[in-house]
Amino acid sequence: MTGTIDISIDKIAKSRVEEYDVNNVPFGKCFSDHMLVAEYKDGKWQTPYITPYRDIPMSYAMSALHYGQAIFEGMKAYKNENGQVSLFRPLENFKRLNKSALRMAMPEVPEEIFMGGLMELIRLDSAWVPSSETGSLYIRPFLIATDEAIGVRPSDTYKFVIITCPAGKYYSEPIKVLVEQTYIRAVKGGVGFVKAAGNYGRSLYPTRLAQAKGYQQVIWTDSETHQYVEESGTMNLMFVIGDTVITPALSDTILSGITRDSVLSLARDWGYKVEERKISIKEIVEAHKNGTLKEAFGCGTAATIAHITAIGYEGIDYQLPALEDRKFSPKVDEHLRNIRKGKTEDKFKWMMAV
Ligand code: PLP
Ligand code: COI
Repeated sequence: MTGTIDISIDKIAKSRVEEYDVNNVPFGKCFSDHMLVAEYKDGKWQTPYITPYRDIPMSYAMSALHYGQAIFEGMKAYKNENGQVSLFRPLENFKRLNKSALRMAMPEVPEEIFMGGLMELIRLDSAWVPSSETGSLYIRPFLIATDEAIGVRPSDTYKFVIITCPAGKYYSEPIKVLVEQTYIRAVKGGVGFVKAAGNYGRSLYPTRLAQAKGYQQVIWTDSETHQYVEESGTMNLMFVIGDTVITPALSDTILSGITRDSVLSLARDWGYKVEERKISIKEIVEAHKNGTLKEAFGCGTAATIAHITAIGYEGIDYQLPALEDRKFSPKVDEHLRNIRKGKTEDKFKWMMAV
């Protein structure tokens, strides 16, 4: 449900929006006027409130800081030519947040708090939504354990918060990626399939090593054999081999991306053959050698579609065809942008007006 809920609103005295060019700000560094907060205590959710964006008062013993009982989501709002603001598939983020909450022994956030709070917040800060072709308002809902306690156990208190920031491109250029053969992102039975904060902290060191070698991102491989590709950085991975769109099948080591699902829906709708299955590096190298590897790209909310120009594996950089020779990924990128900007039919009813 997306109806109204009881929210107390403390509006900022003077908006800060004019201090920025919202169509031209670095990703994730400039935050909109307001934030939504809902607290969980005494076994229930308290009335949510919207306040001017501000720092959090907290104890140095706050459990999220020590043991990572913290989860988040990433989603976007778009502004069309008439100034109408819409969200892209927000209910999917709501459902995924609660999937993460369950796995991390946290209380589920009620739909009326997530959706009702989100709608109210985005309406209030609609001036912060970029109107540029590739701009959007990045929305970061998150849930953190707030007990002041050092014992390792689920917290009794939590804060659910939504902050937002205008965003342009996450990657300014197509990316070169390195197949990671030593470190891993996720293991069977672990938390790779949810958006737990620790998944991202652990990715930084291997990514830094890859960057020092001239790559922008790593391709994560399976933890048991390092032979099968899983994801790239914070994106799901797709390949076009021959005329088939192929992506690793979902498992407990892969995040079920909303962009991934959208790309696959469009591919199927356009008559492409789509395969969700295991993909070995050997198969990718073979396809490169026999000329059938046409495209590789990552997809995600922040990154949208990130074209991959080269894949580094065992000391060799396998170069991919030039962007102008790719048929599927530029088309899917443009089509998704047009749906989000209200320029083409929203056949799957993905957009929700605020
Ligand atoms: N995989 C990981 C590890 C991510 O962090 C993300 C980003 O959210 C994705 C995939 C893509 O998911 P989505 O398309 O829902 O943003
Ligand atoms: C997203 O695409 O929303 C992500 O979560 C990536 C992010 C960690 C910047």
